[in-house]
Amino acid sequence: MNDSSPPGTAQATHADAVSHEIRWLEQVIEARLGHFFDGTTAPFTVPPAPEQPRGTALGDLIARTGMNATARLVLALAVAPHVNSAVLDPFYVKNSAIDRAFSQFGGHPDAGTAFVPSVETALFLIAGTDTAARIAAMRLFEPDNPLRVSAGVTLTQTPPSHVSRLDIPVHRVVALCDGKPPRPDFSPNFPARRLTTKLGWEDLILPAGVRDQLQHILAWLENRDTILQDWGLERQFGRGYKALFYGPPGTGKTLTATLLGQRTGLDVYRVDLSMVVSKYIGETEKNLGLIFDMAAERDWILFFDEADALFGTRTATASSNDRHANQEVSYLLQRIEECQSLVILASNLRSNIDDAFFRRFQSAIGFARPTVPERLQLWQNTLSGVPVAEDIDLRALARTHDLSGAAITNVVRHAAVGALRRGASSVAAEDIKSAVTAEMRKEGRTS
Ligand SMILES: Nc1ncnc2c1ncn2[C@@H]1O[C@H](COP(=O)(O)OP(=O)(O)OP(=O)(O)O)[C@@H](O)[C@H]1O
Ligand SMILES: [Mg+2]
Repeated sequence: MNDSSPPGTAQATHADAVSHEIRWLEQVIEARLGHFFDGTTAPFTVPPAPEQPRGTALGDLIARTGMNATARLVLALAVAPHVNSAVLDPFYVKNSAIDRAFSQFGGHPDAGTAFVPSVETALFLIAGTDTAARIAAMRLFEPDNPLRVSAGVTLTQTPPSHVSRLDIPVHRVVALCDGKPPRPDFSPNFPARRLTTKLGWEDLILPAGVRDQLQHILAWLENRDTILQDWGLERQFGRGYKALFYGPPGTGKTLTATLLGQRTGLDVYRVDLSMVVSKYIGETEKNLGLIFDMAAERDWILFFDEADALFGTRTATASSNDRHANQEVSYLLQRIEECQSLVILASNLRSNIDDAFFRRFQSAIGFARPTVPERLQLWQNTLSGVPVAEDIDLRALARTHDLSGAAITNVVRHAAVGALRRGASSVAAEDIKSAVTAEMRKEGRTS
Protein backbone atom coordinates (compact mmCIF):
# COMPACT_ATOMS: atom_id res chain seq x y z
CA MET A 1 0.00 0.00 0.00
CA ASN A 2 1.32 3.38 -0.89
CA ASP A 3 0.73 5.67 2.03
CA SER A 4 2.15 8.68 0.26
CA SER A 5 -0.57 8.59 -2.42
CA PRO A 6 -2.72 11.68 -2.40
CA PRO A 7 -6.34 10.93 -1.60
CA GLY A 8 -8.27 9.69 -4.59
CA THR A 9 -5.28 8.11 -6.31
CA ALA A 10 -6.88 5.07 -7.84
CA GLN A 11 -5.41 2.06 -9.51
CA ALA A 12 -6.16 3.70 -12.86
CA THR A 13 -3.64 6.44 -12.13
CA HIS A 14 -0.83 3.96 -11.63
CA ALA A 15 -1.75 2.21 -14.86
CA ASP A 16 -2.09 5.56 -16.66
CA ALA A 17 1.45 6.46 -15.71
CA VAL A 18 2.68 3.21 -17.23
CA SER A 19 0.63 3.75 -20.34
CA HIS A 20 2.03 7.31 -20.83
CA GLU A 21 5.49 5.90 -20.49
CA ILE A 22 4.79 3.24 -23.12
CA ARG A 23 3.31 5.83 -25.45
CA TRP A 24 6.51 7.82 -25.08
CA LEU A 25 8.53 4.69 -25.88
CA GLU A 26 6.45 4.34 -29.02
CA GLN A 27 7.35 7.90 -30.05
CA VAL A 28 11.03 7.31 -29.41
CA ILE A 29 10.97 4.13 -31.50
CA GLU A 30 9.30 5.95 -34.34
CA ALA A 31 11.71 8.87 -34.17
CA ARG A 32 14.76 6.62 -33.88
CA LEU A 33 13.76 4.43 -36.81
CA GLY A 34 12.94 7.54 -38.86
CA HIS A 35 16.38 8.94 -38.10
CA PHE A 36 18.04 5.64 -38.95
CA PHE A 37 16.27 5.18 -42.29
CA ASP A 38 16.78 8.81 -43.30
CA GLY A 39 20.50 8.19 -43.12
CA THR A 40 20.88 11.75 -41.88
CA THR A 41 23.94 12.98 -40.01
CA ALA A 42 21.87 15.45 -38.01
CA PRO A 43 21.99 14.76 -34.27
CA PHE A 44 19.12 12.75 -32.91
CA THR A 45 16.82 14.40 -30.42
CA VAL A 46 14.92 12.14 -28.10
CA PRO A 47 11.24 13.13 -27.77
CA PRO A 48 10.82 14.53 -24.24
CA ALA A 49 9.82 12.06 -21.56
CA PRO A 50 6.42 12.63 -19.99
CA GLU A 51 6.35 14.12 -16.55
CA GLN A 52 5.56 11.42 -14.02
CA PRO A 53 4.37 13.07 -10.84
CA ARG A 54 4.84 11.41 -7.50
CA GLY A 55 1.96 9.45 -6.10
CA THR A 56 2.01 6.78 -8.77
CA ALA A 57 4.15 3.68 -8.45
CA LEU A 58 6.14 4.63 -11.56
CA GLY A 59 6.48 8.29 -10.56
CA ASP A 60 7.71 7.31 -7.12
CA LEU A 61 10.18 4.81 -8.53
CA ILE A 62 11.63 7.43 -10.88
CA ALA A 63 11.89 10.01 -8.12
CA ARG A 64 13.37 7.59 -5.63
CA THR A 65 16.06 6.22 -7.90
CA GLY A 66 16.75 9.41 -9.83
CA MET A 67 16.38 7.54 -13.14
CA ASN A 68 17.07 9.75 -16.12
CA ALA A 69 15.30 9.59 -19.49
CA THR A 70 17.73 6.97 -20.81
CA ALA A 71 17.13 4.63 -17.88
CA ARG A 72 13.40 5.19 -18.15
CA LEU A 73 13.51 4.23 -21.80
CA VAL A 74 15.15 0.92 -20.99
CA LEU A 75 12.60 0.27 -18.25
CA ALA A 76 9.75 1.04 -20.66
CA LEU A 77 11.31 -1.30 -23.21
CA ALA A 78 11.44 -4.11 -20.64
CA VAL A 79 7.85 -3.49 -19.59
CA ALA A 80 6.39 -3.13 -23.11
CA PRO A 81 6.15 -6.85 -24.01
CA HIS A 82 4.11 -7.41 -20.84
CA VAL A 83 1.58 -4.66 -21.45
CA ASN A 84 1.52 -3.84 -25.15
CA SER A 85 3.85 -5.85 -27.32
CA ALA A 86 2.55 -4.28 -30.54
CA VAL A 87 4.59 -1.19 -29.67
CA LEU A 88 7.69 -3.13 -30.66
CA ASP A 89 6.37 -4.35 -34.02
CA PRO A 90 8.19 -1.64 -36.03
CA PHE A 91 11.42 -3.49 -35.24
CA TYR A 92 10.20 -6.35 -37.40
CA VAL A 93 10.95 -4.34 -40.55
CA LYS A 94 13.12 -6.41 -42.84
CA ASN A 95 16.33 -5.27 -44.38
CA SER A 96 15.46 -5.85 -48.04
CA ALA A 97 19.11 -5.84 -49.10
CA ILE A 98 19.80 -9.02 -47.17
CA ASP A 99 16.22 -10.20 -46.61
CA ARG A 100 16.49 -10.53 -42.86
CA ALA A 101 15.84 -8.41 -39.82
CA PHE A 102 18.19 -5.54 -39.10
CA SER A 103 20.81 -6.77 -36.67
CA GLN A 104 21.08 -3.18 -35.38
CA PHE A 105 17.65 -3.52 -33.75
CA GLY A 106 18.63 -6.50 -31.67
CA GLY A 107 15.79 -8.64 -30.41
CA HIS A 108 15.83 -12.13 -29.06
CA PRO A 109 16.03 -14.88 -31.66
CA ASP A 110 13.67 -17.17 -29.72
CA ALA A 111 10.89 -14.65 -30.16
CA GLY A 112 7.57 -16.19 -31.11
CA THR A 113 4.83 -13.94 -32.38
CA ALA A 114 6.05 -10.80 -30.64
CA PHE A 115 9.36 -8.96 -30.70
CA VAL A 116 11.44 -9.64 -27.59
CA PRO A 117 13.82 -6.77 -26.81
CA SER A 118 17.49 -7.33 -26.09
CA VAL A 119 20.27 -5.12 -24.77
CA GLU A 120 21.09 -4.41 -28.41
CA THR A 121 17.57 -3.01 -28.91
CA ALA A 122 18.01 -0.69 -25.93
CA LEU A 123 21.40 0.51 -27.14
CA PHE A 124 19.98 1.21 -30.58
CA LEU A 125 17.16 3.29 -29.11
CA ILE A 126 19.51 5.23 -26.86
CA ALA A 127 22.49 5.71 -29.12
CA GLY A 128 21.63 4.59 -32.64
CA THR A 129 24.83 3.48 -34.31
CA ASP A 130 27.11 5.88 -32.43
CA THR A 131 29.71 3.58 -30.89
CA ALA A 132 30.95 5.96 -28.20
CA ALA A 133 27.42 6.72 -27.02
CA ARG A 134 26.63 3.02 -26.99
CA ILE A 135 29.62 2.26 -24.81
CA ALA A 136 28.59 5.03 -22.42
CA ALA A 137 25.09 3.58 -22.21
CA MET A 138 26.41 0.13 -21.27
CA ARG A 139 26.76 1.42 -17.72
CA LEU A 140 23.01 1.11 -17.33
CA PHE A 141 23.21 -2.65 -17.48
CA GLU A 142 25.72 -3.15 -14.72
CA PRO A 143 24.35 -5.25 -11.87
CA ASP A 144 24.41 -2.43 -9.30
CA ASN A 145 22.63 0.12 -11.50
CA PRO A 146 19.26 1.30 -10.06
CA LEU A 147 17.65 0.06 -13.22
CA ARG A 148 18.63 -3.45 -12.20
CA VAL A 149 18.52 -3.17 -8.42
CA SER A 150 15.49 -0.95 -7.82
CA ALA A 151 13.46 -1.22 -11.00
CA GLY A 152 14.18 -4.95 -11.34
CA VAL A 153 15.15 -5.05 -15.02
CA THR A 154 16.76 -8.41 -15.77
CA LEU A 155 19.20 -9.61 -18.41
CA THR A 156 19.26 -13.25 -19.32
CA GLN A 157 21.54 -14.98 -21.73
CA THR A 158 20.47 -18.33 -23.02
CA PRO A 159 22.51 -20.58 -25.21
CA PRO A 160 23.06 -21.03 -28.08
CA SER A 161 22.70 -17.40 -29.15
CA HIS A 162 23.86 -15.75 -25.89
CA VAL A 163 21.85 -12.70 -26.80
CA SER A 164 21.09 -10.70 -23.64
CA ARG A 165 17.36 -10.64 -23.35
CA LEU A 166 15.91 -7.61 -21.64
CA ASP A 167 13.03 -8.35 -19.30
CA ILE A 168 11.38 -7.57 -16.00
CA PRO A 169 9.59 -10.00 -13.69
CA VAL A 170 5.86 -9.94 -14.06
CA HIS A 171 5.28 -9.07 -10.40
CA ARG A 172 7.20 -5.84 -10.95
CA VAL A 173 4.95 -4.93 -13.83
CA VAL A 174 1.88 -5.67 -11.76
CA ALA A 175 3.26 -3.53 -8.94
CA LEU A 176 3.84 -0.63 -11.34
CA CYS A 177 0.35 -0.96 -12.80
CA ASP A 178 -1.68 -1.30 -9.63
CA GLY A 179 0.52 0.55 -7.21
CA LYS A 180 0.83 -2.08 -4.55
CA PRO A 181 3.14 -4.99 -4.02
CA PRO A 182 1.25 -7.98 -5.36
CA ARG A 183 0.86 -11.15 -3.39
CA PRO A 184 1.55 -13.60 -6.15
CA ASP A 185 -0.77 -16.38 -5.02
CA PHE A 186 -2.57 -15.98 -8.30
CA SER A 187 -0.10 -17.79 -10.49
CA PRO A 188 -0.44 -21.55 -10.81
CA ASN A 189 3.28 -21.66 -11.57
CA PHE A 190 4.20 -20.05 -8.32
CA PRO A 191 5.15 -22.92 -6.01
CA ALA A 192 4.54 -21.01 -2.79
CA ARG A 193 1.47 -20.17 -0.77
CA ARG A 194 1.01 -17.55 1.86
CA LEU A 195 0.31 -18.96 5.30
CA THR A 196 -2.26 -17.33 7.56
CA THR A 197 -4.04 -18.40 10.71
CA LYS A 198 -6.84 -17.20 12.91
CA LEU A 199 -4.98 -18.50 15.94
CA GLY A 200 -2.76 -16.15 17.91
CA TRP A 201 0.61 -16.38 19.61
CA GLU A 202 -1.08 -17.16 22.94
CA ASP A 203 -2.68 -20.28 21.44
CA LEU A 204 0.70 -21.82 20.84
CA ILE A 205 1.38 -24.48 23.46
CA LEU A 206 5.09 -25.19 23.66
CA PRO A 207 7.66 -25.91 26.36
CA ALA A 208 9.49 -22.93 27.85
CA GLY A 209 12.78 -23.85 26.15
CA VAL A 210 11.22 -23.79 22.73
CA ARG A 211 9.41 -20.53 23.47
CA ASP A 212 12.69 -19.01 24.47
CA GLN A 213 14.30 -20.03 21.18
CA LEU A 214 11.35 -18.51 19.31
CA GLN A 215 11.69 -15.28 21.27
CA HIS A 216 15.26 -15.18 20.09
CA ILE A 217 14.16 -15.30 16.45
CA LEU A 218 11.55 -12.61 17.13
CA ALA A 219 14.17 -10.46 18.78
CA TRP A 220 16.42 -10.88 15.75
CA LEU A 221 13.65 -9.79 13.39
CA GLU A 222 12.81 -6.80 15.53
CA ASN A 223 16.36 -5.66 16.16
CA ARG A 224 18.32 -6.67 13.09
CA ASP A 225 18.67 -3.10 11.82
CA THR A 226 20.24 -2.00 15.08
CA ILE A 227 22.51 -5.02 15.17
CA LEU A 228 23.61 -4.76 11.57
CA GLN A 229 23.78 -1.03 11.02
CA ASP A 230 24.14 0.75 14.35
CA TRP A 231 26.41 -1.87 15.80
CA GLY A 232 28.28 -2.25 12.53
CA LEU A 233 27.93 -6.00 12.36
CA GLU A 234 26.77 -6.04 8.76
CA ARG A 235 30.37 -6.51 7.73
CA GLN A 236 30.43 -9.81 9.63
CA PHE A 237 27.08 -11.24 8.62
CA GLY A 238 24.05 -10.47 6.51
CA ARG A 239 20.36 -9.97 7.14
CA GLY A 240 19.59 -13.61 6.49
CA TYR A 241 18.64 -15.97 9.30
CA LYS A 242 18.19 -19.68 8.93
CA ALA A 243 16.13 -21.76 11.31
CA LEU A 244 15.39 -25.46 11.36
CA PHE A 245 12.15 -26.77 12.88
CA TYR A 246 12.23 -30.52 13.39
CA GLY A 247 9.87 -32.89 15.11
CA PRO A 248 6.95 -35.27 14.65
CA PRO A 249 3.85 -34.42 12.61
CA GLY A 250 1.19 -32.20 14.09
CA THR A 251 3.35 -30.61 16.78
CA GLY A 252 3.01 -27.02 15.60
CA LYS A 253 5.91 -26.38 13.20
CA THR A 254 3.79 -24.84 10.48
CA LEU A 255 1.65 -22.97 12.99
CA THR A 256 4.72 -21.51 14.65
CA ALA A 257 6.16 -20.29 11.36
CA THR A 258 2.82 -18.68 10.54
CA LEU A 259 2.64 -16.98 13.92
CA LEU A 260 6.20 -15.64 13.66
CA GLY A 261 4.97 -13.77 10.59
CA GLN A 262 1.80 -12.63 12.34
CA ARG A 263 3.79 -11.30 15.28
CA THR A 264 6.25 -9.36 13.14
CA GLY A 265 3.89 -8.25 10.37
CA LEU A 266 5.87 -10.13 7.74
CA ASP A 267 4.26 -12.38 5.14
CA VAL A 268 5.09 -16.05 5.44
CA TYR A 269 5.27 -18.12 2.27
CA ARG A 270 5.32 -21.89 2.35
CA VAL A 271 7.27 -23.66 -0.35
CA ASP A 272 6.45 -27.28 -0.88
CA LEU A 273 9.70 -28.90 -1.84
CA SER A 274 8.24 -32.19 -2.94
CA MET A 275 6.30 -30.19 -5.48
CA VAL A 276 9.19 -28.03 -6.52
CA VAL A 277 11.75 -30.71 -7.06
CA SER A 278 9.62 -33.21 -8.94
CA LYS A 279 6.84 -31.42 -10.72
CA TYR A 280 8.74 -28.37 -11.76
CA ILE A 281 11.82 -29.97 -13.23
CA GLY A 282 13.35 -27.51 -15.63
CA GLU A 283 11.11 -24.73 -14.44
CA THR A 284 12.41 -25.11 -10.91
CA GLU A 285 15.23 -22.64 -10.98
CA LYS A 286 13.09 -20.00 -12.59
CA ASN A 287 10.28 -20.45 -10.09
CA LEU A 288 12.52 -20.70 -7.08
CA GLY A 289 14.50 -17.73 -8.28
CA LEU A 290 11.29 -15.72 -8.33
CA ILE A 291 10.43 -16.78 -4.80
CA PHE A 292 13.82 -15.74 -3.48
CA ASP A 293 13.74 -12.44 -5.38
CA MET A 294 10.33 -11.68 -3.98
CA ALA A 295 11.42 -12.71 -0.49
CA ALA A 296 14.38 -10.36 -0.62
CA GLU A 297 12.36 -7.50 -1.98
CA ARG A 298 9.33 -7.85 0.25
CA ASP A 299 11.04 -9.19 3.35
CA TRP A 300 9.09 -12.42 3.40
CA ILE A 301 9.62 -15.29 5.75
CA LEU A 302 10.17 -18.39 3.64
CA PHE A 303 8.99 -21.68 5.07
CA PHE A 304 10.22 -24.84 3.39
CA ASP A 305 8.00 -27.69 4.43
CA GLU A 306 9.14 -31.29 4.15
CA ALA A 307 12.63 -30.05 3.62
CA ASP A 308 14.05 -33.58 3.91
CA ALA A 309 14.88 -33.57 0.21
CA LEU A 310 17.61 -31.07 1.05
CA PHE A 311 19.22 -33.04 3.84
CA GLY A 312 21.38 -36.05 4.23
CA THR A 313 24.04 -37.30 1.97
CA ARG A 314 23.65 -36.28 -1.59
CA THR A 315 24.45 -39.65 -3.09
CA ALA A 316 25.76 -40.41 -6.53
CA THR A 317 22.73 -40.91 -8.66
CA ALA A 318 21.94 -42.88 -11.71
CA SER A 319 19.01 -41.47 -13.62
CA SER A 320 19.10 -38.11 -15.29
CA ASN A 321 16.02 -37.10 -13.32
CA ASP A 322 17.89 -37.75 -10.10
CA ARG A 323 20.87 -35.82 -11.32
CA HIS A 324 18.58 -33.03 -12.24
CA ALA A 325 16.98 -33.09 -8.81
CA ASN A 326 20.45 -32.96 -7.24
CA GLN A 327 21.28 -29.95 -9.33
CA GLU A 328 18.10 -28.24 -8.15
CA VAL A 329 18.97 -29.07 -4.56
CA SER A 330 22.40 -27.49 -4.86
CA TYR A 331 20.86 -24.42 -6.42
CA LEU A 332 18.31 -24.23 -3.65
CA LEU A 333 20.89 -24.62 -0.90
CA GLN A 334 22.93 -21.86 -2.39
CA ARG A 335 19.94 -19.53 -2.61
CA ILE A 336 18.94 -20.36 0.97
CA GLU A 337 22.49 -19.63 2.05
CA GLU A 338 22.44 -16.23 0.35
CA CYS A 339 18.87 -15.32 1.24
CA GLN A 340 18.59 -12.06 3.17
CA SER A 341 15.36 -12.93 4.99
CA LEU A 342 14.30 -15.44 7.58
CA VAL A 343 14.23 -18.92 6.07
CA ILE A 344 12.68 -21.75 8.05
CA LEU A 345 13.15 -25.36 7.06
CA ALA A 346 10.85 -27.97 8.55
CA SER A 347 11.40 -31.69 8.80
CA ASN A 348 9.89 -34.63 10.63
CA LEU A 349 13.14 -36.48 10.97
CA ARG A 350 16.05 -35.27 13.03
CA SER A 351 18.04 -38.38 12.08
CA ASN A 352 17.90 -37.49 8.40
CA ILE A 353 19.93 -34.38 8.90
CA ASP A 354 23.68 -34.62 8.84
CA ASP A 355 25.73 -32.59 11.29
CA ALA A 356 27.42 -30.45 8.68
CA PHE A 357 24.00 -29.37 7.59
CA PHE A 358 22.92 -28.64 11.15
CA ARG A 359 25.75 -26.18 11.61
CA ARG A 360 24.39 -23.95 8.88
CA PHE A 361 21.42 -22.90 11.00
CA GLN A 362 21.37 -20.04 13.45
CA SER A 363 18.56 -21.84 15.30
CA ALA A 364 17.58 -25.50 15.36
CA ILE A 365 14.35 -25.97 17.25
CA GLY A 366 13.05 -29.38 18.23
CA PHE A 367 9.28 -29.80 18.46
CA ALA A 368 8.13 -32.73 20.59
CA ARG A 369 4.80 -34.37 21.17
CA PRO A 370 3.01 -32.50 23.94
CA THR A 371 3.32 -33.56 27.57
CA VAL A 372 0.26 -34.24 29.75
CA PRO A 373 -0.07 -30.64 31.03
CA GLU A 374 0.43 -29.32 27.51
CA ARG A 375 -2.25 -31.67 26.23
CA LEU A 376 -4.61 -30.41 28.90
CA GLN A 377 -3.97 -26.87 27.76
CA LEU A 378 -4.56 -27.89 24.14
CA TRP A 379 -7.85 -29.56 25.04
CA GLN A 380 -8.97 -26.52 27.00
CA ASN A 381 -8.06 -24.09 24.24
CA THR A 382 -9.59 -26.10 21.46
CA LEU A 383 -12.83 -26.66 23.37
CA SER A 384 -13.00 -23.15 24.81
CA GLY A 385 -16.01 -22.05 22.74
CA VAL A 386 -17.63 -25.47 22.43
CA PRO A 387 -20.61 -26.42 24.60
CA VAL A 388 -19.50 -29.56 26.44
CA ALA A 389 -21.51 -32.01 28.54
CA GLU A 390 -20.68 -32.43 32.19
CA ASP A 391 -19.36 -35.93 31.77
CA ILE A 392 -16.25 -34.72 29.98
CA ASP A 393 -13.09 -34.92 32.07
CA LEU A 394 -10.35 -33.01 30.26
CA ARG A 395 -7.64 -34.01 32.76
CA ALA A 396 -8.39 -37.67 32.18
CA LEU A 397 -8.38 -37.13 28.43
CA ALA A 398 -5.03 -35.39 28.58
CA ARG A 399 -3.58 -38.13 30.77
CA THR A 400 -4.89 -41.09 28.84
CA HIS A 401 -4.36 -40.18 25.22
CA ASP A 402 -0.96 -39.41 23.80
CA LEU A 403 -2.20 -37.09 21.06
CA SER A 404 -0.42 -34.27 19.22
CA GLY A 405 -1.87 -30.77 18.95
CA ALA A 406 -3.05 -31.47 15.43
CA ALA A 407 -4.66 -34.75 16.54
CA ILE A 408 -6.53 -32.99 19.34
CA THR A 409 -7.88 -30.46 16.82
CA ASN A 410 -9.02 -33.34 14.61
CA VAL A 411 -10.67 -35.12 17.52
CA VAL A 412 -12.61 -32.02 18.52
CA ARG A 413 -13.81 -31.50 14.97
CA HIS A 414 -14.89 -35.13 14.68
CA ALA A 415 -16.60 -35.05 18.09
CA ALA A 416 -18.50 -31.84 17.26
CA VAL A 417 -19.85 -33.40 14.06
CA GLY A 418 -20.70 -36.57 16.00
CA ALA A 419 -22.63 -34.64 18.64
CA LEU A 420 -24.67 -32.73 16.10
CA ARG A 421 -25.37 -35.92 14.15
CA ARG A 422 -26.79 -37.40 17.35
CA GLY A 423 -29.05 -34.40 17.62
CA ALA A 424 -27.31 -33.28 20.82
CA SER A 425 -26.60 -29.63 21.59
CA SER A 426 -23.29 -30.26 23.33
CA VAL A 427 -20.28 -32.51 22.94
CA ALA A 428 -20.33 -35.43 25.36
CA ALA A 429 -17.71 -37.92 26.52
CA GLU A 430 -18.99 -40.55 24.11
CA ASP A 431 -18.42 -38.18 21.14
CA ILE A 432 -14.86 -37.57 22.24
CA LYS A 433 -14.30 -41.27 22.81
CA SER A 434 -15.35 -42.34 19.34
CA ALA A 435 -13.46 -39.40 17.80
CA VAL A 436 -10.28 -40.46 19.62
CA THR A 437 -10.71 -44.00 18.36
CA ALA A 438 -11.15 -42.73 14.81
CA GLU A 439 -8.07 -40.52 15.11
CA MET A 440 -5.94 -43.34 16.51
CA ARG A 441 -7.06 -45.62 13.72
CA LYS A 442 -6.07 -42.96 11.22
CA GLU A 443 -2.62 -42.77 12.74
CA GLY A 444 -2.36 -46.57 12.61
CA ARG A 445 -2.57 -46.90 16.40
CA THR A 446 -5.21 -48.33 18.67
CA SER A 447 -6.49 -46.58 21.74
N1 LIG B 1 2.05 -26.78 19.86
C1 LIG B 1 0.83 -26.46 19.42
N2 LIG B 1 0.12 -25.49 20.03
C2 LIG B 1 -1.11 -25.18 19.62
N3 LIG B 1 -1.74 -25.79 18.60
C3 LIG B 1 -1.10 -26.78 17.95
C4 LIG B 1 0.22 -27.16 18.33
N4 LIG B 1 0.60 -28.16 17.54
C5 LIG B 1 -0.40 -28.39 16.68
N5 LIG B 1 -1.43 -27.57 16.93
C6 LIG B 1 -2.71 -27.54 16.18
O1 LIG B 1 -2.60 -28.46 15.10
C7 LIG B 1 -2.64 -27.79 13.87
C8 LIG B 1 -1.63 -28.41 12.90
O2 LIG B 1 -0.30 -28.22 13.39
P1 LIG B 1 0.91 -27.91 12.41
O3 LIG B 1 0.44 -27.96 11.02
O4 LIG B 1 1.55 -26.66 12.84
O5 LIG B 1 1.85 -29.15 12.70
P2 LIG B 1 3.24 -29.51 11.99
O6 LIG B 1 4.22 -29.73 13.08
O7 LIG B 1 3.56 -28.49 10.98
O8 LIG B 1 2.89 -30.90 11.34
P3 LIG B 1 3.55 -31.60 10.02
O9 LIG B 1 4.89 -32.10 10.42
O10 LIG B 1 2.58 -32.71 9.75
O11 LIG B 1 3.58 -30.57 8.95
C9 LIG B 1 -2.35 -26.36 14.19
O12 LIG B 1 -2.89 -25.49 13.25
C10 LIG B 1 -2.98 -26.22 15.55
O13 LIG B 1 -4.37 -26.06 15.43
MG1 LIG C 1 3.63 -28.61 8.90
